[in-house]
Amino acid sequence: MKPGSPRLEDLIVLLSRSKDLGLGAIVLDGLTREEILSSNLDSGVELGRTGGETVVDQSFSGTSAGVEVVSEMNYEVLEETAGHCQKCALCEKRNRVVFADGHRDARLMIIGEAPGAKEDQAGIPFVGHAGKFLDLLLASVSLSRKDSVYICNVLKCRPPANRDPLPDEIAMCAPYLTQQIALVAPEVILAVGTFAAQFLTGKKLPLGKLRGSTYSYKGVPLVITYHPAALLRNSGWTRPTWEDFQLLRKIMG
Ligand code: URA
Repeated sequence: MKPGSPRLEDLIVLLSRSKDLGLGAIVLDGLTREEILSSNLDSGVELGRTGGETVVDQSFSGTSAGVEVVSEMNYEVLEETAGHCQKCALCEKRNRVVFADGHRDARLMIIGEAPGAKEDQAGIPFVGHAGKFLDLLLASVSLSRKDSVYICNVLKCRPPANRDPLPDEIAMCAPYLTQQIALVAPEVILAVGTFAAQFLTGKKLPLGKLRGSTYSYKGVPLVITYHPAALLRNSGWTRPTWEDFQLLRKIMG
């Protein structure tokens, strides 16, 4: 964590005192990256807006090489195939392919951005600082990764030095995620961070504009929130994140 960043302990206190929190400016790093997901983002179809909730459905055209095959794989074959993937240059520097963690029959599927250094070593998503904070956020709404969640990322391999995923990397990896969602068939999806949110909604909007609504990804309710790593850098996003988790909990019942 950078010097001056809020400590986890402070954030726990902030979370437990959500009513007292002030709203900070909501500006995610890299909001101007208009080219993000350019190969996937035009397929989102807005179905309607009721009571402040936007409903979006999306079907991907699946133009990436190999998508037809991937879309017919069962879970074991999909994981095995992703584990040997060489479709983009990220395979050259990765230590481990990071496919998923949690239960395949979980009601909630959480989708992040890409593995970091710790995840690349462990082969498990969200095991670093951001992951610990995500676990804490889940605990605040009585959910636990151990019991009730399936977690994966848009990218299965770590981008060098944790740089942002590139549009072609996302396009090449997309069939794995699309099939993963189809096979896990979650009741609810939580997208954490800009890349997952834009991928799943098909909307090239800043996260601050995307969050706060309930979407539909191929019929599955989709909630969007800040990436825990971004939240660790800006505690002003704590209150909206708290609200997003309350919305998630409400949808899950
Ligand atoms: N950030 C992510 O988006 N995913 C991980 O697995 C770890 C950090």
